[in-house]
Amino acid sequence: MQLAKRLNKLPPYLFVDINEKIAELRARGADIISFALGDPDLPTPAHVIEYMCQATHDPANHRYPETNGLPELRQAITEWYEKRFGVTLNPDREVLPLIGSKEGIGHMALCFIEPGDIALVPDPGYPPFSMGTILAGGEPYFMPLKEENDFLPDFETIPDEIASKAKLMWLNYPNNPTGATADLDFFEKAIHFAQRHNNLAICHDAPYTEVFFDGYKPPSFMQVSGAKEVGVEFHSLSKTYHMTGWRIGMVVGNAEMIDALFRVKSNLDSGIPQAIQQAAIEALRGSQDCIAEHNAILQRRRDKLIKVLAKIGLKARIPKATFYIWAKVPQGYTSIDFTKKLLDEAGIAVTPGIGYGKEGEGYVRFSLTLADDRLEEGVNRLLNWKAV
Ligand SMILES: Cc1ncc(COP(=O)(O)O)c(C=O)c1O
Repeated sequence: MQLAKRLNKLPPYLFVDINEKIAELRARGADIISFALGDPDLPTPAHVIEYMCQATHDPANHRYPETNGLPELRQAITEWYEKRFGVTLNPDREVLPLIGSKEGIGHMALCFIEPGDIALVPDPGYPPFSMGTILAGGEPYFMPLKEENDFLPDFETIPDEIASKAKLMWLNYPNNPTGATADLDFFEKAIHFAQRHNNLAICHDAPYTEVFFDGYKPPSFMQVSGAKEVGVEFHSLSKTYHMTGWRIGMVVGNAEMIDALFRVKSNLDSGIPQAIQQAAIEALRGSQDCIAEHNAILQRRRDKLIKVLAKIGLKARIPKATFYIWAKVPQGYTSIDFTKKLLDEAGIAVTPGIGYGKEGEGYVRFSLTLADDRLEEGVNRLLNWKAV
């Protein structure tokens, strides 16, 4: 048996060590509190589940779905974008449902990247941006997201020879893992940059636009004029409606990019189970109350954790969106050392920043997606623990 060489190009999975350690401690009976997963703890809203249960009885939903989804789902996505962002989309040419946005992100690389091609990727960043590029035979060029630049890439520092060779640029706001947000001026700058460089395609990944606090509401990349000419936006029902387990998302925007992704996908998958598509229609069109309810809970958790981190000397910005807190580790520790220490001494799991790229070194990510009583126990343990 000979596996493809491309597999050797994937970097080692940096969380292996930590995950093994957590499993080992749990096997020995330790009670580990995990701030490590970006997976909402609260359930999918009941009306969505109810609708899906009904839909499972319909024999029409027992057959192969279409790769491009139910026309009614594409219409519901179009209405949602219009209502939420004032963005008008053509449901047949500018919208494509996905089996979770991660699936579309990975496959988009196959539409643009040939062996040796470059994709501009944020560092730290959601790993599929670079892994999709590598699996397609390309090379990621990492755009550092520095705290002094509010975790936004500085396009001016990208060398011309890189920018002119790049085929794709990945952006993600509100951002995982930093919790940073971007405004419309930033998206405008990104579009100008793309226009200056052979109409480089932009993929904006936006699954966290509905997780926001303090009255702030994140914008969509598609709101900026010219966005549809150069790019697409990936979105998801995962974080908005707590539907991570159902696997449903979407990509909207440039019709040529959407068609390219459809051509790849129609040869590789057979669409999203239709009962789940029906659930998504109900989530998008039904009551949106769950968003404010979820955000009120997350904001309370955020405030509690931020206060405790400050008390124990871990510096972190207060995120206006996402359920992540990106905290600086004390001087003298790597993010892995610090994660192990926290796990060993306090039984608390976080994600080491280095797992998101070189620029993530020096940080750890706390996720707020754990039950209130576990969070309470976690903050008490932190208060009784010496960070340095
Ligand atoms: C930045 C980012 N993009 C995409 C995803 C994938 O979401 P989905 O569940 O839609 O595949 C995640 C999930 O954690 C994410 O953090």
